Amino acid sequence: MDKNTPIIISLGGSLVVPNGGMDTKFLSQFNEFIRLKIAEKWRFFIVVGGGATARHYIDAAKNITGDITDWYLDYLGIHATRLNAHLIRTIFQDVAHPRIIQNYEHKLNNLEQPLVVAAGWKPGRSTDYDAVLLARDYTAEVIINMSNIPQVYDKDPNKHKGAKPLDKISWADFELLVGDKWSPGSNLPFDPIATKLAKKLGLIVYVIGRDIKNLDRLLTNKDFIGTLISP
Ligand code: UTP
Repeated sequence: MDKNTPIIISLGGSLVVPNGGMDTKFLSQFNEFIRLKIAEKWRFFIVVGGGATARHYIDAAKNITGDITDWYLDYLGIHATRLNAHLIRTIFQDVAHPRIIQNYEHKLNNLEQPLVVAAGWKPGRSTDYDAVLLARDYTAEVIINMSNIPQVYDKDPNKHKGAKPLDKISWADFELLVGDKWSPGSNLPFDPIATKLAKKLGLIVYVIGRDIKNLDRLLTNKDFIGTLISP
């Protein structure tokens, strides 16, 4: 991969907060790895998801009220992404831009830092969409989507036993897989609203799991496990 353009990492919240507690082991490895790469002159934008925190708050609000609009649920999710983004920003405080991107209309100019942290913005989409906005606005060529889903499958592996992992897929086929409906806290390899925009912009997205060595192999053009989504 080319280190002359920034790499956008959509860091699934499930890797930060898998289920209630923070995954400090993963975060320590991630911290070490990103610093190593920064020393080699790579630049990153890291947009952080809401993880189990988002889902717990969304489920609690649904259970208590019985009936609540998606707009409110998404806002709970957005706040969870902000909390997680603050954790990532704190970990990288000496190398990251002091501001967390939370309003994507305010573009950062003359960036000096090798790392920028971003969080959720508006209801109706996930941080995958925000990663697409970053790729568009900061002329990145590639988005790496890290989450607890290591690859895209040809069918939902939770529902179909024979689902097969895919090494690559076109945006048109991927769109058929994820559909076009948004639902708060949904757990898809790349969200449908983000998919629409990424397809329109002709972006390249790599869906990979949580393995840092695998991330390194992807960055350094070696064999990796994941799915390439491209035009
Ligand atoms: P994400 O869906 O991005 O976090 O945001 P996640 O599930 O941890 O990430 P992945 O799927 O593993 O990559 C959590 C929730 O916050 C709201 C949505 O409800 C989303 O499901 N959100 C997030 C928004 O409404 N707008 C945003 O821009 C970002």
